Amino acid sequence: MLPETLTLTDPRLYATGDPHPLWRALRREEPVRWHQPADASGFWAVTGYEPGLRVLQEWEIFSSAQGTMLRRDLTEPYPGAGKMLALTDPPRHTVLRRAVGRLFTPRSLARLEGKARSIVRPLVADAVAAGHCDFATDVAARIPLALAADLLGVPVEDVSKVAAAAARISSRDQDDGGLDARIAHLELLDYYSQVMESRRANPGDDLMSALVVAQADGAGLTDEEAILTCDNVIVAVGDTTRAAAAGGMLALLEHPDQWAALKSGLADPARAVDEILRWAPPATHLLRTAVRDTDLGGQHIAAGDPVTVWIPSLNRDESVFGDGDVFRLDRTPNRHLTFGGGVHFCLGAALARLVLRVLLEELVTGTGDIALAGEPRRLASYTVGGLAALPLRLTAPAASAPAT
Ligand code: HEM
Repeated sequence: MLPETLTLTDPRLYATGDPHPLWRALRREEPVRWHQPADASGFWAVTGYEPGLRVLQEWEIFSSAQGTMLRRDLTEPYPGAGKMLALTDPPRHTVLRRAVGRLFTPRSLARLEGKARSIVRPLVADAVAAGHCDFATDVAARIPLALAADLLGVPVEDVSKVAAAAARISSRDQDDGGLDARIAHLELLDYYSQVMESRRANPGDDLMSALVVAQADGAGLTDEEAILTCDNVIVAVGDTTRAAAAGGMLALLEHPDQWAALKSGLADPARAVDEILRWAPPATHLLRTAVRDTDLGGQHIAAGDPVTVWIPSLNRDESVFGDGDVFRLDRTPNRHLTFGGGVHFCLGAALARLVLRVLLEELVTGTGDIALAGEPRRLASYTVGGLAALPLRLTAPAASAPAT
């Protein structure tokens, strides 16, 4: 039975509760349902796979240009709306995506495999040498920082500053009046403007260079669009990769038979990555705004209505996955929607899969035993799933353990 009042936007549900029973009941009884929080704008909550995929694919009806994440007051303008890759619809989106897409060719990816390994291996080795770590902050969070620095061609410290400013911006709902968020936004723009000027003078094979080259090629990109799109990619790498890495580690510890299968070579790391992504998707919801009336899952959606898609629920829909509540590394096919769908399908999906596979491979070869050393702490967020803390104890692999 569904509760009278839904609580999908209550952070406590994600910090200390288990949202899956609620999502399961919604899928069964009302996979498209109006949700009206007491103190915030109302929205449609889509929890079924079929209607969710429709929302993601039908950009002519469900627009991204008014924002893609819930916030308390959905009538307030969304920062960067209509100007950065993720927050535009075609045809503008097609222009921006083509400009950034130059960086994600198969050739660039091949170059990044070595880079990913050189980032991940020392992080795992340091944790093993210390015998313990907070996997969420010491390993998972550091991978995307290094990756983003490489994409942007700047030092890791710069990306840490960018990530801190981005976090201040996205916490604008909680602060008073949003002054700090506005200052952080200006700091970010100033930083990216400097990178832009330096790449204009001296282009390389990094993200901002790709954007200024597209500008020079007549893509009709304004400086503001280029800066916001660059920021879009850097932020897109961060929280998501961190959440998937930490969520995946916890899932493996909670399913020791699956971890054993991976360790012994019975489970294929590439396929395992997709099951981890299905099981612990970093984006908890995506938002669209209906731009014309339509019917969805038996409900009438009016033009202007906010429509949210709840990815972890879609990823366990019984009609698509059968035993969706079972974590099984050999699952195939695995049509999870962790990277979204349609024109906004994650541009970094291949890179994210590569990095996560490298992480699994390095954990398999670089560690002996891994065990929880304390309670994992979940993020109190209905936007990004994942872990604030994951304390672990680790030992070295048997072959490299010192002889006694
Ligand atoms: C596990 C890691 C990741 C996950 C789960 C993830 C998830 C997603 C999702 C769900 C979207 C669609 C958003 C929407 O439809 O509104 C998206 C878009 C995007 N992602 Fe990722 N992402 C990951 C890693 C990355 C990485 C490593 C990069 C860059 C190198 C990246 C770059 C982007 C960009 C640029 C977009 C916007 C694409 C567009 O609007 O056309 N992501 N991502």
